[in-house]
Amino acid sequence: NKVVLAYSGGLDTSAIVPWLKENYGCEVICFVADVGQGADDLEGVEQKALASGASKCIVKDLKDEFVKDYVYPTLKTGAIYEGTYLLGTSMARPVIAKAMVEAAMAEGADAIAHGCTGKGNDQVRFEGAVAALAPQLKVIAPWRIWTMRSREELLNYLSERNIPCKASITKIYSRDANAWHISTEGGELESTWNEASAAVWQWTVDPEAAPDKAEYVKLTIAEGEVVAVDDQALSPYEVLLTLNERAAKHGVGRIDITENRLVGMKSRGCYETPGGTVMMAALRAVEELVLDKTTRAWREKLGAEFSHLVYDGRWFTPLCKAILASADAIAEDLSGEVVLKMYKGSVTAVQKRSVNSLYSEDFATFGADEVYDQSHAEGFIRLYTLASRIRALKEQSK
Ligand code: ARG
Ligand code: SIN
Repeated sequence: NKVVLAYSGGLDTSAIVPWLKENYGCEVICFVADVGQGADDLEGVEQKALASGASKCIVKDLKDEFVKDYVYPTLKTGAIYEGTYLLGTSMARPVIAKAMVEAAMAEGADAIAHGCTGKGNDQVRFEGAVAALAPQLKVIAPWRIWTMRSREELLNYLSERNIPCKASITKIYSRDANAWHISTEGGELESTWNEASAAVWQWTVDPEAAPDKAEYVKLTIAEGEVVAVDDQALSPYEVLLTLNERAAKHGVGRIDITENRLVGMKSRGCYETPGGTVMMAALRAVEELVLDKTTRAWREKLGAEFSHLVYDGRWFTPLCKAILASADAIAEDLSGEVVLKMYKGSVTAVQKRSVNSLYSEDFATFGADEVYDQSHAEGFIRLYTLASRIRALKEQSK
């Protein structure tokens, strides 16, 4: 029998390879998803996997698919988890799990293994995807089974088996990165009374150290998708790369959140989403011009619902399709151009226009106008407040 393991080259997944072979007598195929986490993580990963005892290592480039089919659709819904989290880790899990399922089928494997702990969200996201796509596959989660708890034990486990591993005995933070964001948890962040130290932040410049001069960037949006940066047409992944670089210099996209995990506990993390924060601001600016009050309110509901769907690992469900279809319908009118100003950690949409804009200077003006007869407001308000009036009159007659 064969197992496909979600492999990163880190200490945990390196120990999982021999552990699976010993405990299940199986062949282990390592699967490395390239979701844009960076060249450092991918360098030499194949040799590492083989040195740990894997029979094969598959490295799959999922960068374009991740941004195009997961990030962009999620952006259209406006999903933000618990007020600030742009769902970077959450969105990457379904694309990785889907590719792993495909690899498992192609290799004739009967199980999938992952290195998520039994305390987190990621286990649910992986296994939720497997359940929906290939329920016949068994899932093995070593962290929920083995008794090893510390890095020291894992290192000993490997050295007893003469498996080389350069991992250090201490690692302060738990991190997860992809093209969209990097998350940092653990270390001093475990106390909510500790301010995140400079070592927490990986991608973005400290806003206090960012340039004193603001930088402007222009985004072109077509049907709810960013298609060009400063008039240069780019693919979704290229848009993200370009904006990450430009926004990171200005310290844009840092958040420090204490969030509710699906499994019930709270956790504290610092996340950096520089390019994503700029894109989100641009899309909101076009929505402000284009969507009427009730459509806008509906989009808010879609976003709130979708943030939980993605966070909670329910990507491959009928509800996901239904919400995305609704967001697509709304996005048909969301085309335009937005100029954003990035300055010391902030991003502001300072210029915006759309061919579908409902904003009209003629209507909004405080000067003389012909399109809006102010005397009509009186009748509107009388009917609009009728229920209050009836209730108050009744109270008075008691
Ligand atoms: N708490 C965030 C989430 O649940 C980030 C998780 C980071 N994952 C990790 N394996 N370090 O989406
Ligand atoms: C983990 O526990 O594996 C990482 C954190 C999370 O999944 O929420």
